[in-house]
Amino acid sequence: MRDASPQTIYLKDYTPFGFAVEDVHLTFDLAPSATRVTSRIRFAPNPEATDQTFFLHGENLSLLSARIDGETVKPTITDDGLTCEVPNVPFTWEAEVQIDPAANTALEGLYQSGGMYCTQCEAEGFRKITYYPDRPDVMSTFTVRINGPHPVLLSNGNPVATGDGWAEWHDPWPKPAYLFALVAGELIAHRDTFTTMEGRKVDLALYVRPGDEGKCAFGMQALKDSMTWDEDVYGRAYDLDVFNIVAVDDFNMGAMENKGLNIFNASAVLASPETSTDGNFERIEAIIAHEYFHNWTGNRITCRDWFQLCLKEGLTVFRDSQFTSDMRSAPVKRISDVIDLRARQFPEDQGPLAHPVRPESFQEINNFYTATVYEKGAEVIRMLKILVGDEAYTQALDLYFDRHDGQACTIEDWLHVFEDTTGRDLTQFKRWYSQAGTPHVSVEDSFDNGTYTLTFRQHTPPSTATPDPQPQVIPVAVGLLAADGTEAMGTQVLELTEAEQRFSFPGLEAKPVPSILRGFSAPVVLKHDADHAFLLAHDTDPFNRWEAARSLGKASLLNAVTEGTPPEQSWLDGVAGALTDETLDPAYRAYTLALPGQSQLAADLHNAGQTPDPDALWAAHEAHRQALADRLDDALPGLFASHQVDAPYAPTAGQSGTRALGNAVLALLTRQDGGDAAQAQFDTATNMTQQLSALAYLIRAGRGDAALAKFEAQWQHDRLVMDKWFGLQVMEAKPDDAADTATALTKHPDFNWKNPNRFRATLGSFAAHHAGFHAKDGSGYTLLADWLITLDPVNPQTTARMCAAFQTWRRYDAIRQSMISRELARIADTPGLSRDTTEMITRIRDA
Ligand code: TRP
Ligand code: ZN
Repeated sequence: MRDASPQTIYLKDYTPFGFAVEDVHLTFDLAPSATRVTSRIRFAPNPEATDQTFFLHGENLSLLSARIDGETVKPTITDDGLTCEVPNVPFTWEAEVQIDPAANTALEGLYQSGGMYCTQCEAEGFRKITYYPDRPDVMSTFTVRINGPHPVLLSNGNPVATGDGWAEWHDPWPKPAYLFALVAGELIAHRDTFTTMEGRKVDLALYVRPGDEGKCAFGMQALKDSMTWDEDVYGRAYDLDVFNIVAVDDFNMGAMENKGLNIFNASAVLASPETSTDGNFERIEAIIAHEYFHNWTGNRITCRDWFQLCLKEGLTVFRDSQFTSDMRSAPVKRISDVIDLRARQFPEDQGPLAHPVRPESFQEINNFYTATVYEKGAEVIRMLKILVGDEAYTQALDLYFDRHDGQACTIEDWLHVFEDTTGRDLTQFKRWYSQAGTPHVSVEDSFDNGTYTLTFRQHTPPSTATPDPQPQVIPVAVGLLAADGTEAMGTQVLELTEAEQRFSFPGLEAKPVPSILRGFSAPVVLKHDADHAFLLAHDTDPFNRWEAARSLGKASLLNAVTEGTPPEQSWLDGVAGALTDETLDPAYRAYTLALPGQSQLAADLHNAGQTPDPDALWAAHEAHRQALADRLDDALPGLFASHQVDAPYAPTAGQSGTRALGNAVLALLTRQDGGDAAQAQFDTATNMTQQLSALAYLIRAGRGDAALAKFEAQWQHDRLVMDKWFGLQVMEAKPDDAADTATALTKHPDFNWKNPNRFRATLGSFAAHHAGFHAKDGSGYTLLADWLITLDPVNPQTTARMCAAFQTWRRYDAIRQSMISRELARIADTPGLSRDTTEMITRIRDA
């Protein structure tokens, strides 16, 4: 949609719709370029609404006919919908529209992918299917008839009847239109069943394109595990007779929780040991859980309006992280979540795109499916649980499901449930939902007469979204260690509520070493000159022990770029000690080896008032990896040999941890042996985890050409594996080569840029290559801008998301800033630029 002067929508302007929808009947006559959608919708005036305007959303629809109670009507049609005179008693609306799924490249509404039909309606895609009050607080039951020559015809709810060329579905649970889904095609079902704790037998199916049958088993198991877990932990059972998942190749995001008919990006569900890495398996398990958990947190209880998006997303991310912690290793999951939060959410919160977890205005809601809404939204719930305790959390959630089942709710509803359960006043806590920005917490300590005192100061840097941030409620989990490494005080949760606050711990024999923000108990930037080497050796909190290694590495890297110092011995010794500590989980040890990313280091430099030099950061990373390889030189072959899995491949936490450590060691070993061990692993690998990592290290060692060619020949037929082939070459390119490598790949015959997975694998990887993207000559900026301009008219949603690559532009030197500024202007000035991309570029430039 083109829009010359985009409108801003405000939370404070919310008003209910003037009509209730009693039920919805839809008939689809499928044809690639001329699908007919016939709707029969019963409306009744809503006595609670003040505005009785009958406005139905609709975009890119050809209205063929409209009737009210059987009488033809002539509505007034605009770009975004229609209005019509209606009676002030209940009435039936009937309309017939024609749409063009084959021409729908935006992948929103009804579209085609790999020969099948599918839909994506969240957030506002249903209005591209038919005229409707497309807002989440309008909920109704849906009955859907699909006419089409396809063997598989699916919609939400339970199957009613089916015949040659048609199928009928009925969803008894009232839902907003964004949860509508339809799929038609020649698909293969991988089936199973699940019996709920209430005794309901549910038919499960995972529908895939022919050829993908062998990649279904893992996803199906993940679904059954998720169903069991939600019963065990939240007491929530599934509520339909069928649960269907469909894998599609062309999809803007990971997956979508449509009621009873989840639609997945193929990359987020299809898995096999030969084609998927351990990381893929873990991600797939988490996304299947996430979408399944939405059935209660999102579908049965939905959002009143899109400002409340975190109501379902923050909670569902929190639930899927609990699930992964239970299924795998809780400390490892916490570490990987925090790495992710710092890499994706912190830059958002500390740059021009900063917005509260519950935003107060937007132009295009698709631009607010962000790390802040999702991941910080989950962190806020995690803090709430820490503050009220596990038992009260469970009671509050029971009350939430009880009180709000079938409703479209707000963050106020959510917090009231906690207030009613605990008697706690959450007024100040609510600032986590209304204020943008990451709080900075600094700590000072003193010891006097057996009493240890910690003084905390909190300060949130102001942003356009929140010019005057107020102190927040910050749970800080603290433990104290004695000089011999034993615990002087176990973990206590301190509640910060003031800008400055003091906590005293009497009765200590000597000054302890504090372990602060254990488990990363709040999403803040902690400023504290801790004794990292001591904590790395002794902390009983696994997160903070890892954090200590991280801090040592960070300090060493930052010193290297600012002072030109060599890698610091304390870091080398600490990491070497952890690496060879056989009492530690291998996955955990692999994380200890990983360096903070270059983009994150750039942020640290910027926050310290310095200008990051991407080439220097790249060089510091290289020097640190090399120093570690040299430090461990003798031990590497032995460590590599002792971290191999003998058993047949299984994507379990145990096996994948061993492989992660084996591969982390192999990366170092490749620096010492020139790549011989990596070549051997590549040649003999029988799983993608080892094949792909070996390929990466061979590229790094400058001897990847033959392996790349072999890999391509082996996997040419597999789209998901080829995405890895495209992505890896960009990720592993030297800074000077990254732009050329990406450009060459865009000329490859398999570079189908309209497919979001392939576009992201190539250009998304490029934008994430810190030193490559920020190349001195500006070639990286031009390359990305060219492709954003190309993709925008085809797929605004994916284009807009990728604009975020420019969000950190103010960190860099004046020359780079002016080059980026030029590219931003060039994008902004593109005639007909989408509302999505216009909003993103405007926000980024306005900083
Ligand atoms: N609600 C989905 C989830 O979190 C994500 C989603 C939102 C989405 N908008 C989308 C997925 C558009 C695909 C396309 O699970
Ligand atoms: Zn979600």
